[in-house]
Amino acid sequence: MPLPRVIATRRLPEPVEQELARDFDAALNTDDHQFSEAELQDALRDADGLLCTVTDRLTAVVLAREPRRCRILANFGVGYNHIDMTEAGRRGLVVSNTPGVLTEATADLAMTLMLMAARRAGEGEREVRAGRWTSWGPTHLMGADVSGQTLGIIGLGRIGRAVARRAHAGFGMKVLSYTPHPIPAAEAAQLGVAQLSSIQGVLAESDFVSLHCPASPATYHLIHAERLRLMKPSAFLINTARGDIVDDRDLVRALDEKWIAGAGLDVYEHEPRVPAELLGRENVVLLPHLGSATWSTRVAMGLKAVGNLRAFFREGKAPDQVG
Ligand code: DGY
Repeated sequence: MPLPRVIATRRLPEPVEQELARDFDAALNTDDHQFSEAELQDALRDADGLLCTVTDRLTAVVLAREPRRCRILANFGVGYNHIDMTEAGRRGLVVSNTPGVLTEATADLAMTLMLMAARRAGEGEREVRAGRWTSWGPTHLMGADVSGQTLGIIGLGRIGRAVARRAHAGFGMKVLSYTPHPIPAAEAAQLGVAQLSSIQGVLAESDFVSLHCPASPATYHLIHAERLRLMKPSAFLINTARGDIVDDRDLVRALDEKWIAGAGLDVYEHEPRVPAELLGRENVVLLPHLGSATWSTRVAMGLKAVGNLRAFFREGKAPDQVG
């Protein structure tokens, strides 16, 4: 029997490409270019499965194009808000993701942003590289404390809990959280997390607010002007989840008008475009969507995506099927 044809929309870590090429009739994206809408439609027409990523806008229009051979979208990543799930479901397209394997790396990056923003690490680095550092001084680049401060976590899934664990056990932080899906009290107590009944309470009491909810219609611009105004003027907003959870324009206003002290961002609503008003600011740390970007994590994500494809074509069901 011929092997199922799978198209990978981006370059993948080598062990992942090797495994894909071993088990499938695989088309690899050797120059790592981002697929256009037409290329995505061609891929859906020509392949049995797509190994896709967050950079592929699999909209209703893209998915609606007939004829289509593709039966599974194996996403390389846990978030799948770039896929129109309603249209995929309507057309009987299976969607899988890669939960679990990127939890620790993403939690590490949330802590990185928290520390960088509070300790003005980006500003310091820019100063040194530009040759502007002249001397140690008692008032030079003074930042904010992280240890012992209060962290508010919005969304208490795997990554939110991993951040809570680091913050509480490692940095002695008081951890508050808001989640529409509260975790059992015993688990919260073990993590050292107090679960509040409103997002407003978390925003008002925290020195750092870290977002860990999935992107969905319910979380679109969840953090808007009114909520940013609730935060302390000394507080920092950290986003490693998805860009459209925060209303960028309101965030810029919050920074301009000093409603908050700063932000650490890894994700943006219109990636890779970053609002110009953020690029020029010293009190914002900006990273290029690096949450899961460690070697072992990216390999694990890829192998999980390949595993989903393998199971789907062998058994008709992917272990990490989300739709
Ligand atoms: C994820 O897994 O959701 C990462 O952000 C990459 O898409």
